[in-house]
Order: sequence, then C-alpha cells, then structure tokens
Amino acid sequence: AKQAGLLYFGAATDTPFQRERAPYPQSYAQYDAILNSPTEFGQTTPTNGQKWLFTEPAPRLFNFTEGDYVADLAASTGKLLRCHALVWHSQLAPWVETTNWTAPALRDAITRHIRAVAGYYRGRCYAWDVVNEALDEDGSYRKSVFYNVLGEEYLRLAFSAAAEADPGARLYYNDYGIERPNSNKTAGAKRLVKMLQDAGLRVDGVGMQAHLHADNHPSEAELVATSEAYGQLVKEVAFTELDVRIKMPVDAAKLEMQKEGYQKVVAACVKVKACVGITVWDFYDPFSWVPDVFPGQGASLLWFEDFTKHPAYDGMVETF
Ligand code: XIL
Repeated sequence: AKQAGLLYFGAATDTPFQRERAPYPQSYAQYDAILNSPTEFGQTTPTNGQKWLFTEPAPRLFNFTEGDYVADLAASTGKLLRCHALVWHSQLAPWVETTNWTAPALRDAITRHIRAVAGYYRGRCYAWDVVNEALDEDGSYRKSVFYNVLGEEYLRLAFSAAAEADPGARLYYNDYGIERPNSNKTAGAKRLVKMLQDAGLRVDGVGMQAHLHADNHPSEAELVATSEAYGQLVKEVAFTELDVRIKMPVDAAKLEMQKEGYQKVVAACVKVKACVGITVWDFYDPFSWVPDVFPGQGASLLWFEDFTKHPAYDGMVETF
C-alpha cells in the first residue's frame, strides 16, 4: 500500500472484553499474531472502545480503558491510529438519550465530551471521526437526539470543539452509503462539509465507511469519481470501515465477487491522490459486526474462522 502511494492499509480491532462472539480461545494467539504483524496492517481503529457508551457512560464519568487497549496496541506495534467516533447517534450512553435536554445543556454536554475524549487522546490520533452517520439515506439530516435539540448547529459545535481539543488530528466526517457519486446521500455529505467550511470550520477528510455487498458493489470508476469529488472539498479521503459481505452460504463465485469488491476499493484509492488509506473493519470473520446486524450475511472480511485467507487478500495484494 505504501509503495502504491497510500499512507496506510489498516484493520480495525475490538478489545477482548467487547468481542461479543469470540470463537475459540486458542484463536486469540493466532488473531493477535496477524494483528500485531508489522507486515499485515500499518494502521488500526478501535471498533468500539472510543464510542460515547464506553468513554462517558454516566455524565462526567470518563473511562478510557477500552479505547486505551487499542490506542496502546497501535503505539506498541507502530501503527497509525484512526480514532472513532466523537459524536454518533448509535452506541450512545443511555443518559444522553433519556435526558430531557435544553439546547444550552446539550451544547455543554457535547463540548465537554469532545474536550475530554479528544483531549485525552490528543497527539495520538492521526485522524478523528468527529461526527459519524449524521445523514439519512435521502441526504437529509438524521433525526438524532443531537439534531432534534440543536439542528445542524451540533455539527459545527463538534468540529469546533474537536479542532480545539486536538489541533494535530485530521478531522473527518464519516458515513456509510456515500461511496457512489450520484446518490442523494453523497450529495448530502458534500453539502454537510460545505456547510461546516462556510462556517469557517476545519474539515480535513471525508471517510467512506464502505460496508459493501459482494453482489452489488460500486465500480472502480464510481469510487474514483466519488473520492475525487470529496477531494475537491477536503484534503483527504479514506475508506474507513471496509468489508464486503456475502449472502450465506459462502461459495467460490461469491468469494470471487467479494474479491472484486475489495480490489475496486484498492484500485480507486491508488488512483485518487487525496485517498490516504484503507481500513478493514476487523479482519477475522468471527469478529465481524455483519452477522449480528444483517442475519444471513457474513464472511465479509479477509480471514475465515479457520484462519485461512479469503481470495480477496491476494486479490488486493495483486491490485496494489
Ligand atoms: C460496529 C461494531 O463493529 C460492533 O462491534 C458494534 O456492536 C456496533 O458497531 N458503522 C460504524 C461503526 O461507524 O462504529 C460500526 O461498528 C459499524 C457501522
């Protein structure tokens, strides 16, 4: 990936405490060997540990145990760390959703949360996903507790607080389903970024999560066009949560389509100057979020349960 001009190719990972569907205990040694290998992944992201649910489970009660596990792992294995995510409607601490907010109180809570979390990790995050998934499928704003109380102001507040709390981190807007050039949601992402910039705020990157489907993924040309379009607005783009899910059961034809999906992301990122890197959302199928959330789908990552590799692995290596 580096030889091809990317800054990194990485894999997100969870903490041992949060891996909900751990397979066999002996897998951990093999899993860790791949994760820690300097030749597999040059970057990592905590899949859960830095989310609000874990970092501020009760008002003003901050806990960095989960996030530190992955941040420390990044430091000890020499990987870049992408940090994820400061403001998101999901995996929120329940108190954020059950409080009957006034606008000033929610403004304070958001600012306090970002100051504490991004401040704590200051200097360690290559990038922060400052706001995650603020858009609905039609490109309009998602009706979260943040939006319902503050409107789009919460986005400005978040980017402004993050810039203060960690001036060295690249500040990203991150979302899924914004990988195709002509969708309403992609238009929404561009509008959102412009809105922040028009307010004088710094937005450094757009993260395309890229949770793709083996049987229906964007073409290389589409991925290039979308990345270029974001690259007109911001300095960098990244594929931040790549996986390519299969409708179970797995067969050779589906694995081939999956490989093509992965290859297209690699080819597009290599072609687009603004594209700094690719992160797969974990690398070992039993630790994927996909089967939990999309029953009947899975095998979306690069290593099968028995630690043999998907064809997509060599496919990507060839494409680089
Ligand atoms: C997922 C995690 O991987 C799961 O372990 C968790 O149960 C739910 O969240 N978009 C995101 C990620 O931005 O934070 C999500 O991660 C996957 C979808």
